[in-house]
Amino acid sequence: MCVNSTNAEGFKPSKFVDSILRGKISAGKMKALKEVQAVKGQCYKIAVIPGDGIGAEVVREGLKVLEVACRAEGVSYETVSFDIGGERYLRTGETLPESVLDELRRFDAIYFGAIGHPDVPPGVLERGILLKLRFALDLFVNLRPVKLYPGVETPLKGKTPEDIDFVVVRENTEDVYALEGTSFQPNTENEVAIQPAIYTRRGTERVIRYAFELAVRRAKERGKPAKVTLVDKANVMTVGHGLWRRVFGEVAKEYPDVETEALYVDAAAMEFVLHPERFQVVVTTNLFGDILTDLGAAIQGGIGIAPSGNIHPGKVSMFEPVHGSAPTIAGKGLACPLAAILTAALMMEHLGETKVAQRIEEAVTKALQTGKIRSLEAGKMGLSTQEVGDLVASFV
Ligand code: IPM
Ligand code: MN
Repeated sequence: MCVNSTNAEGFKPSKFVDSILRGKISAGKMKALKEVQAVKGQCYKIAVIPGDGIGAEVVREGLKVLEVACRAEGVSYETVSFDIGGERYLRTGETLPESVLDELRRFDAIYFGAIGHPDVPPGVLERGILLKLRFALDLFVNLRPVKLYPGVETPLKGKTPEDIDFVVVRENTEDVYALEGTSFQPNTENEVAIQPAIYTRRGTERVIRYAFELAVRRAKERGKPAKVTLVDKANVMTVGHGLWRRVFGEVAKEYPDVETEALYVDAAAMEFVLHPERFQVVVTTNLFGDILTDLGAAIQGGIGIAPSGNIHPGKVSMFEPVHGSAPTIAGKGLACPLAAILTAALMMEHLGETKVAQRIEEAVTKALQTGKIRSLEAGKMGLSTQEVGDLVASFV
């Protein structure tokens, strides 16, 4: 059954969403939306994986805001929730069964909360669910915007929203993540552990190309010249990252109007803190992207406001907040749902519903500007998870 503001067949709108929309959308606009919808006939299928810990509570707020925004724009979608995560693993021994994976392939997008369970050894759920989804669906881009919203405090002295507004394009299917590694004579004095990294020309080229295309699009939107920064460690990982440098140079030739630079990852880490304004689009390898985007989250005000998209352009992609499952605070209404809410915006952007995405982002901006959200740190917001969601929804 399809959910939207106009095609309400079989759909019971939540009272909250209704009360927000009442008075905002005139009968005339409703009718117009209905007509647009009838022509479009599109009903997005969104798979929801709340996952573990705080996943469920932040996803609930993301879906609330998504519902208001979609109804306001006459965009319809249906959601199907999947029970995947630590609890299921402990109950059944299953992480992500092939049958579920096959089902997920039939959706337009996957909205993901978090995984990670204190009773499950590290690696089981990460590899068995999250990484499996990234690899099986070939989600080669991990898109992680680093944006300081007005009204949010950054730990960087003197930096403003003008200074912190870039995206990290993290390669998402190769590097040290792709191979299992081997241990020879484990638990002996002679133990040798090998944890290799893999880089393919095809994998490198497609993600670098994505970064250039994104830089061109963002520059156009902002009326600024485009720039792409490559981050690697080509001075040590001369073979693997040498390939990255060569491919970067080759792709760059196709974009003569895009400014380019290459930084070693150590220098890049320093520059994230000292001169974040130099970055527009950063493209980097999987592991460096993992590390740098936690730093990115920190400078944009914290992990509570950092969204991400695991993307394969044109195919089913998966959207998740950068934060994890935070089991110690789960179920207490202490988690900040803004990352999950902005993640829903990224998902709609990916589906081509730019207006829905903008609506959500603007609502987050307005909610932050009220000053009612005192901090983005869990437990210090001055509001509960649900109250932050309600506040954002009221501005959609
Ligand atoms: C992330 C996480 C994952 C990663 C873990 C949970 C496997 O840290 O999405 O950034 O390393 O990619
Ligand atoms: Mn990470």
